[in-house]
Amino acid sequence: MPLSSMKTDGGSERQEPEESAGDVVSFKVANGVAWVFFNRPDKRNAMSPKVNRRMLEVLDELEFREDVGVLVLGGEGSAWSAGMDLKEYFRETENQGLGAVRKSQREAYSWWRRLRWYQKPTIAMVNGWCFGGGFAPLFACDLAICADEAKFGLSEINWGILPGGGATKVAVDLMSLRDAMYYSLTGEMMDGQTAAKLRLVNESVPLERLEARVVELAGILLKKNPIILKAAKDAVRRVKEMTYDNAEDYLVRAQEAANFHDDTDGRKEGIRQFIDEKSYKPGLAAYDRSKAPAVAEKPKSASAKARAKV
Ligand code: ACO
Repeated sequence: MPLSSMKTDGGSERQEPEESAGDVVSFKVANGVAWVFFNRPDKRNAMSPKVNRRMLEVLDELEFREDVGVLVLGGEGSAWSAGMDLKEYFRETENQGLGAVRKSQREAYSWWRRLRWYQKPTIAMVNGWCFGGGFAPLFACDLAICADEAKFGLSEINWGILPGGGATKVAVDLMSLRDAMYYSLTGEMMDGQTAAKLRLVNESVPLERLEARVVELAGILLKKNPIILKAAKDAVRRVKEMTYDNAEDYLVRAQEAANFHDDTDGRKEGIRQFIDEKSYKPGLAAYDRSKAPAVAEKPKSASAKARAKV
């Protein structure tokens, strides 16, 4: 069932896609959310070189749009993504030689990397099949919500390769060593609930609730300071590989860099609304960003002046 026609608790947020029918990636922006979809349902959204090239273009186009606060990556039809296209990504490029193989790899890896460090927070909305190479964009998304009905598998072993393209790394980073080993060696599938239990995804909900739950989660993110969301998501990925001391130092610098980019001085406003105005409690919700003084109305900070000189 195409998600676009799915009935949800909250009603469908998506309307007609901005891109024309026939595009291997469809997208539309509504209420601050960019809904990007693998759009090759007849091929179970397998990632062909064309899909990979188009995804990078779409991500580029959406990344700094003012009307985009959160990006959701979903799949049309019964699949999220059945992994790499075995015909077009593997067989056809291998037939063209090493140069073509490396080019195809670069095209795939580059949009996954782009997504891992995307300016806006990202949510994988996994509606169905998610195999092999599909683990890379799954990991690249900051958060992941799946349907109980979704099926995940490191199926590479079933047709004779190891889980490459980052899939082994994803399995080890997200799951325990035992589970990563088990699924890599057996190629066994797991359902959404199991994927949530093993922490491949944040949570699993019935398919009919999937879009509504993602809308709810996106709504939470849209209320936060966007500069700090980017700093926080990068920090989570970066500190994982640092010593404690390095992380401590990185986090001080990351916050100071975020202050430089935050023209609303959000952290000061957040304190003001709690301590002076008593209009919210940070332990319970986010401060009201609409009350933050507009950049033009406040005196230029030292950082803004410094930036103006660059
Ligand atoms: N690569 C290329 N074509 C694919 C892929 C793929 N990964 N997955 C599905 N397709 C194609 C099928 O060849 C078929 O094409 P056709 O209609 O021209 O014959 C079409 O999509 C529909 O596929 P079916 O197998 O008929 O769909 P079904 O719903 O019965 O099964 C399933 C879905 C289980 C996902 C099955 O298609 C499958 O096993 N696909 C391969 C999954 C996989 O192992 N992917 C590679 C992981 S390894 C990696 O990514 C590095």
